[in-house]
Amino acid sequence: MTKVTEIAPDIFWVGAIDWHRRVFDRFFSLPHGTTYNAYLVRGKEKIALVDTVARGFEDTLLEKIGQIVAPEDIDYIVMNHAEPDHAGAIPRVMAAAPKARLVASRRGVEMAGDFFDVPPERCQAVTDGQTLDLGGKTLQFLDTPWLHWPETMSTYCLQDGALFSCDFMGAHLASHKLFAEDVGGLAIPEAKRYYAAIMMPFASRARRALDKIQGLNLRLLAPSHGPIHKNPSLIMEAQRKWASGPLEPKVVVVFATMYGATDTLKKALVDGLLAAGAETVEYDLSVADISHIMADLVDARALVVGSPTFIGGAHPLVSSAVETVCTLRPPGKVAAVFGSSGWSGGAVSRVKARLESVGYQVLEPLEIRGSPHTEDLEAARALARQVAERILAE
Ligand SMILES: Cc1cc2nc3c(=O)[nH]c(=O)nc-3n(C[C@H](O)[C@H](O)[C@H](O)COP(=O)(O)O)c2cc1C
Ligand SMILES: [Fe+2]
Ligand SMILES: [Fe+2]
Repeated sequence: MTKVTEIAPDIFWVGAIDWHRRVFDRFFSLPHGTTYNAYLVRGKEKIALVDTVARGFEDTLLEKIGQIVAPEDIDYIVMNHAEPDHAGAIPRVMAAAPKARLVASRRGVEMAGDFFDVPPERCQAVTDGQTLDLGGKTLQFLDTPWLHWPETMSTYCLQDGALFSCDFMGAHLASHKLFAEDVGGLAIPEAKRYYAAIMMPFASRARRALDKIQGLNLRLLAPSHGPIHKNPSLIMEAQRKWASGPLEPKVVVVFATMYGATDTLKKALVDGLLAAGAETVEYDLSVADISHIMADLVDARALVVGSPTFIGGAHPLVSSAVETVCTLRPPGKVAAVFGSSGWSGGAVSRVKARLESVGYQVLEPLEIRGSPHTEDLEAARALARQVAERILAE
């Protein structure tokens, strides 16, 4: 029998641990696996399941629920978010709980139909602030749109001060230890990496949700991935900084190189940054994990991109990383671009234009021909000084 944990009186963790999953949404690495947290709330009159698990883990979920109540006695299935990692088990649970109604935001109800064929007559749409009385347990629904999809809401249990925030403030971390306090310092760094990949494009929504949550008497923060927080203020403060700043005087240098010319320029540039007192982290895109780059960009003031020219444009590894940056929209807006080419050039102008298109202020780029000579290395150090001046003055 798998373990069910009562995280608060009559609130049970009935989720699944996906120890072996190594990639999420086909782009985000999961070195520690993940969890799909689902919670059973047992009131005196009614029983609610808050979120479900990914497809393939239905048996685990139903077996865990069965240790507490008969699945057919569930009255409500709260779907905070329609993404299949949380809602994939809804068809099985709806079948196992024939009298249960699916509770979701108005858009969530539409999506339950679109994604899981849940008929409208089995759904109940709720609005921001609306409550559901289970008998001694009151669930309140809070609109938290775009964290992660437009339909996303959070569910708050008033009596216990427990917030089920779904993806928001989650982390990809598989562990039998359910609480953040017990996972050996991984909770906050993994939540940051998660924030970078999932929430960073929606930072203003995250700020709004944090303001909303701030007004609650929060004592337990239970997201749907990774650790549950018994001391929510720690993760809330971290999220606040990620969503609002301040940024750090840090430069993230990403580059690719085929024959070492761009790499040599990069070394001179990094020397210049360090000499000027800027914290620097660097990523060779042929081996780097994009999620680590994005996590560093959550609080870095500057991005520096190095690329050789490749068929008239940037190296494909660089194009891909730059596209990801433009999609996820980190807050630091200072950038520099450098690289080597053989004849036409073109890498740095392409990267500069793409970064400018999403609001970066790109310093005058450095593009050299062939292998770097003394004056090229001096130009790289000069570019580094300009970057450092910009970010240290902020
Ligand atoms: C596959 C390939 C495509 C290239 N395409 C171009 C090009 O379109 N225009 C250009 O100026 N240089 C082009 N080059 C030359 C490189 O940009 C040049 O060798 C540069 O110095 C490589 O920098 P690296 O040593 O950092 O890889 C190409 C080189 C390779 C290997
Ligand atoms: Fe999601
Ligand atoms: Fe998720």
